[in-house]
Amino acid sequence: MSKNLLIGTGMALSLLLSPFSQAFAEEPTTGERKQVENVAHRGATAYAPENTIAAFDLAVEMKADYIEIDVQRSKDGKLVLIHDTTVDRTTDGTGKVGDLTFEQLRSLDAGSWKGEQFAGESIPTFEEILDRYQGKIGIFIEMKSPELYPGIEEEVAEALKERNLDKPQNEKILVQSFNFESMKKMDELLPKVPIGVITSNPADATLESLQEISTYADWFNPHYGMVTEELLSQVHSMGMKMGSWTVRSQETADFLFEMGVDAIISDYPDYVDPRN
Ligand code: G3P
Ligand code: CA
Repeated sequence: MSKNLLIGTGMALSLLLSPFSQAFAEEPTTGERKQVENVAHRGATAYAPENTIAAFDLAVEMKADYIEIDVQRSKDGKLVLIHDTTVDRTTDGTGKVGDLTFEQLRSLDAGSWKGEQFAGESIPTFEEILDRYQGKIGIFIEMKSPELYPGIEEEVAEALKERNLDKPQNEKILVQSFNFESMKKMDELLPKVPIGVITSNPADATLESLQEISTYADWFNPHYGMVTEELLSQVHSMGMKMGSWTVRSQETADFLFEMGVDAIISDYPDYVDPRN
């Protein structure tokens, strides 16, 4: 076999074995793509600093259906939006989120790391983001490492109730976490708000596990590497929806679209809806 043929055969085999091989070859139309909820991961993160108003405003401008936010808590009890449990990567400060007061967190520059044009962006509070975007765009609320913040479930629930965001007619709010116990608690506190579990662990996708999860969750949100037509069909048959993450290439967006997931969580809202 020639070297070129060997390379070609190798590429064909790796394509066959990749998750993308399950996708159909045909390009979806824009109309078809709109069947999928377009969730801007930490805002339009590819183009603006994650979990800041700049990224959330851009997601609105790009006509995403939802923003995804990560909620944690300051030392003095304020709910704030930041992904990592330290401020080191996304601000000009250092230290654990939970060891810094709100005043200390708020004084940090959460934009310059992404580009000088974002200098001065600050860490938002959960409540100001609810107030700013309620009714303008949906919100996937991720409770990030809630085990570090005892009682945070009650605080998040209270902030939603104060704004009437716990009512069944509001379909544009979802609460999710990698921490399943925390989500069981949220389901008790907010029985009418959709609850999601996030996972990259295939052990969570067994029939037994899915059945247990479906007793309190409405969404099963796996890493895209776990998504198959069979898993999606099981999730749907148990009455749950699926949102998958994190899309950072057009190829991954197309794969998830062809699988038929209900929501695509992406740094690039334009990969999910090409009109943007
Ligand atoms: O929405 C799911 C996704 O946000 C989970 O991953 O690490 O970006 O919070 P992460
Ligand atoms: Ca997140």
